Amino acid sequence: MKIMEIEGAKELNGTIRISGAKNATVALIPAAILTDEEATICNVPEITDTEALCDILSLLKADVKRASESIVINPKSLENIEIEEKYSKKLRASYYFMGALLGKFKKAVMYFPGGCSIGARPIDLHLKGFEALGAKVTNEKNKYIVEAEELKGANIYLDIASVGATINIMLAAVKAKGTTIIDNAAKEPEIVNVATFLNNMGAKISGAGTSTIKIEGVDYLHNCFHEIIPDRIEAGTYLIIGALCGNNLKIDNIIPEHLDSITSKLEEIGVSLEVGLDYITINKSNNTFKPTTIKTAVYPGFPTDLQQPFTVLLTQCNGKSKVVETIWENRFMHIPYLKDLGADVEVKNQTATIIGPSKLHGTQVVATDLRAGAAMVAAGLFATGTTTITNVEHILRGYEQIIEKLTGVGAKITLKEI
Ligand code: UD1
Repeated sequence: MKIMEIEGAKELNGTIRISGAKNATVALIPAAILTDEEATICNVPEITDTEALCDILSLLKADVKRASESIVINPKSLENIEIEEKYSKKLRASYYFMGALLGKFKKAVMYFPGGCSIGARPIDLHLKGFEALGAKVTNEKNKYIVEAEELKGANIYLDIASVGATINIMLAAVKAKGTTIIDNAAKEPEIVNVATFLNNMGAKISGAGTSTIKIEGVDYLHNCFHEIIPDRIEAGTYLIIGALCGNNLKIDNIIPEHLDSITSKLEEIGVSLEVGLDYITINKSNNTFKPTTIKTAVYPGFPTDLQQPFTVLLTQCNGKSKVVETIWENRFMHIPYLKDLGADVEVKNQTATIIGPSKLHGTQVVATDLRAGAAMVAAGLFATGTTTITNVEHILRGYEQIIEKLTGVGAKITLKEI
């Protein structure tokens, strides 16, 4: 098991460069098998989720070449092999191989995906979408067989604007006969990035980034070169850390408009920011912050993935703040550990009430999931004394070179194998 040790209460000064977006990467790698030629993806983050998806590509016998920050995927020798549980359960996004294999071969056989335990995480909307395109879905225990004689464009209304279902249906529909319309589609920037990738190969997708996406099926997808957008969740995490510990901390290589819901909350509580074209510089405050209420929502609302790190900042607001989680039913697993560090927080009915300001002191905590882990890193950097985080494998799934990036700006943080 890997652990992180953080000696807290250090000022962070310098520049942190943001990596390619994890949630785009994990869709783009499976999407690449749809090309009939070769796909080059650059700005690929070196995180364990990337490794897990490349292992699936190798299992399927795709030709994969890795160079620094880029992957070249040639699916000429791809075989439609069943994706066993040991591969699918490594991450949630393994389910994108369902849509991609269905789109490519009209058949996919794989086990239920894994990922963070932040809620029930059903895939019913993905499967309903595949069925609307003409596929038959059989489910034996945890194994899904999705197959179609022919995929035909359809009008699909999503009951919930699901990121995963929107992308997976796009992947299945891109080579279907005729036109598919996804209504109440999710609008996250990562979806636009995936649509751009497919369009670069010759797909005909319009409306990505709005709630109606139109996909006109094509027969052939050619070579393409694609760049992954910066990770808005990684950037938001470092902004929160900057608000707690920053001394002219520059968060670089970002698209500031993807972070509007975060920067407006930071400004509302009294954090001072300098927003540039592709960077934000942030400073900690000498005063306490104003309390606020956060309600998680689909993009462009406040992202659920930043709710957990933000609760750490709310422990330093003067008075009562609230966090209402509307997307995942199990996303307050970090709160008991935040309390162990000294925070005053109660959770009831999907709402955390935080009374601040509290002094935080280092102790031993657990990264229960990826973003809970990020919250523990933020808390450990701010707290006095030493914080030890166990189960940090969760953090390494989604934050590229987190130790190097933080020590590069003055943090005292080490990774140990025990
Ligand atoms: C993606 C992100 C995750 C983020 C989430 C919400 C990736 C790899 N992960 O997850 O970091 O927290 O979006 O922004 O991109 N739902 C159903 N049935 C379905 C699918 C979803 O009921 O078939 C529900 C979920 O239980 C959840 C809500 O819809 O309550 C949103 O889920 P969804 O947008 O699909 O999340 P993911 O794509 O899994």
